[in-house]
Amino acid sequence: MHLEKYGDIFEIYLANKRQIVINRPGFLDNLYSPSTKARYFSRPTINGLEDLGVRKGITFNQNYEAWRRNRKILAHAVSAPSFLKKALTDSQEIFKRAESKWKDGQILDLAVWVKCFTTDFIMQTSTSEDSYYLAWYQTPEEERDENMKFSRKLYCAIETWLSSIAFFVTVPKFLRHYAPGVRSLQLKFVNNTQWIRDFFRGIIKKRRELRKSSSNEKDGDFLDIMLAAYECTDEMGDEPLDDDEICDAIMDITIGGIDTTSDGFCFVLWYLHNYPDVKQRFLDEINSILGADTNRAMTIEDIDKFVYLDAIIKEVFRVFTLAPLTLRRITTEDTLGGFNWPAGTDFWINHQAANNHPDYWVDPKVFNPDRFLNGEHLKAKNMWTTFGGGRYLATLEIKALLINFHRKYEVGLVDKDAPIRYWYAITNHCSKLEIELHRKKPISKEE
Ligand code: HEM
Repeated sequence: MHLEKYGDIFEIYLANKRQIVINRPGFLDNLYSPSTKARYFSRPTINGLEDLGVRKGITFNQNYEAWRRNRKILAHAVSAPSFLKKALTDSQEIFKRAESKWKDGQILDLAVWVKCFTTDFIMQTSTSEDSYYLAWYQTPEEERDENMKFSRKLYCAIETWLSSIAFFVTVPKFLRHYAPGVRSLQLKFVNNTQWIRDFFRGIIKKRRELRKSSSNEKDGDFLDIMLAAYECTDEMGDEPLDDDEICDAIMDITIGGIDTTSDGFCFVLWYLHNYPDVKQRFLDEINSILGADTNRAMTIEDIDKFVYLDAIIKEVFRVFTLAPLTLRRITTEDTLGGFNWPAGTDFWINHQAANNHPDYWVDPKVFNPDRFLNGEHLKAKNMWTTFGGGRYLATLEIKALLINFHRKYEVGLVDKDAPIRYWYAITNHCSKLEIELHRKKPISKEE
């Protein structure tokens, strides 16, 4: 992570462009300042994405006012009690459907399985559209129906869209527009994105019509909350969002909701099973909060009581930060880290380094979830920078899944000695994590 070698702040060059890497939490204060002047709002990576579309949501929005407004509504939607309740119910139902296909001693490669799970979850919670990607994965090829095949097609399109972002950011516009092979690749990516947007826009149109005809019917999903908030302008004090903005916000939570949460879940499970004392405390926590009845549906209040699990997740994301680097470009000159920087300077925030900085953390290399129970992470601002817009939702999803697996099953790693297997592209991705499942003896009469 270059902290030991290069210190708190250093520069690198990408082609001719100077990039400033920041490793020290204390240097992030200006950068994360909520000032309305927002000098560090601009994300340099998104230049090039104008040809791909999808710039009206949050992640890729270059217009500060529009970004602020969309971020506010996203924060409102993903923290609404009705949304969180639905998210937890969806998560438990999808899990139940999945486990009905498992036999005793079932082996799952979580790196693949959980992507299918989170795809169904994000579709359900964001739009209430049924999604059958997990069913596709768990069904033999000759028995897959059209719904399953469509869910698979949608997932592949989303993955292609995600990988096309790197293409648009790194390949110069001139080549994309004029070099023969590159141009047709660009066209393929643009058409793919258009196909996904048409799919989501169709859902938005259908829902607007439904809301006109039955205004009391609210699913409590992300889409409904976004539409409802701006139907009553008093509530948010802003103009209504148009279909493109809503579509791009759904695409934001799709990017945020599938890969990061899936990979984060795998990494937390790997740590749990490599630290037996931590795992035992987690199992005790399950027992003390939910008892031995594996049938009772969990509530948000139950999930909030899992404070030790919460600390485990935070500690895993500290020692093994999922998105190690994010970028910002300064729009007007400023002083940061004791130096003056001209407008246009690019900064790389090294979250992995900040999350492990020895001036801030006690024994940073030691895996110790208790540090998040004793408030060590509150000693200074920006010591633990791991999330963007989806912290509570992602944590809820990861907690619910970990609890469901461990309250119902004896879970074991197939290869107990394997290190975390991962690869890096913007975030860290789990490449393989096989587990073996044996059903615990059910206590509840219903089973
Ligand atoms: C373990 C799971 C997740 C991790 C580690 C994570 C991490 C991050 C990070 C590091 C950023 C960049 C922040 C920045 O540049 O300042 C980000 C942005 C974002 N994330 Fe996540 N995320 C996760 C899950 C989610 C989920 C489930 C959602 C869905 C609501 C989400 C929505 C967003 C959005 C909308 C942004 C853009 C925020 C902005 O531009 O201000 N994320 N995330």
